[in-house]
Amino acid sequence: EGLLSGPKPLSGLKAIVTSGPTHEPIDPVRYIANRSSGKQGHAIAAALARLGAEVTLVSGPVTIPDPHGVRVLHVERAEEMRDAVIANLPADIAVMVAAVADWRVASGSDQKIKKQPGEAPPPLLLTENPDILKTVGHHAQRPRLVVGFAAETQDVDANGRAKLERKGADLIVANDVSPETGIMGGDRNRVRLITKSGVEDWPDLSKDEVADRLAAWIATHVQ
Ligand code: CTP
Ligand code: CA
Repeated sequence: EGLLSGPKPLSGLKAIVTSGPTHEPIDPVRYIANRSSGKQGHAIAAALARLGAEVTLVSGPVTIPDPHGVRVLHVERAEEMRDAVIANLPADIAVMVAAVADWRVASGSDQKIKKQPGEAPPPLLLTENPDILKTVGHHAQRPRLVVGFAAETQDVDANGRAKLERKGADLIVANDVSPETGIMGGDRNRVRLITKSGVEDWPDLSKDEVADRLAAWIATHVQ
């Protein structure tokens, strides 16, 4: 802190942020994944740190650099992400931004699956991954403020509100990720903040601006 600046609003508070996709192995050389660059989650982790929070970022595989001022734990699979998040409780703030793969392969292969001449392609049997946000939202050591995202391609408000309830979150940041919006992988985002008390529509902003505004929103609502 500079001599002329006041205390930072999130000083002394601990935050956990998830970001990026998860990769779920099929065999040693193949995986299934979600589309996510990690840009929004990483920007939020950095913005919370700038406001003075002690931030742990649990990141899936991304190509962007680790943000400054943040402790970064790198994971691959949803179960690893869940374990890393739970191991870092208690915390004051949780912001779950990761695009977690909803399913993993039920019985992954230790060996590379080979093509069998003349045989049909191997079927992929999937099983559901743990819901990390829901786990945190209902945890005995639940953070004071639990924030989730909702990636939707239709019925953004209704789906976002249902997720707020189901996952035990205080806030759902909902966005329309239809391909024509360019949000997935892009540098801009247009979000709606869904709480028990209503919906707040934010204008089209850069992902860094969304991060700064969200960190400020968190600072005023965590108290
Ligand atoms: N999330 C999570 N763990 C999962 C799935 C989702 O922590 N296994 C979190 C995401 O990080 C996000 C929120 O839950 O904060 C909503 O994710 P989303 O994929 O939109 O919701 P789902 O509950 O998976 O529902 P669906 O994909 O069917 O819309
Ligand atoms: Ca999902």
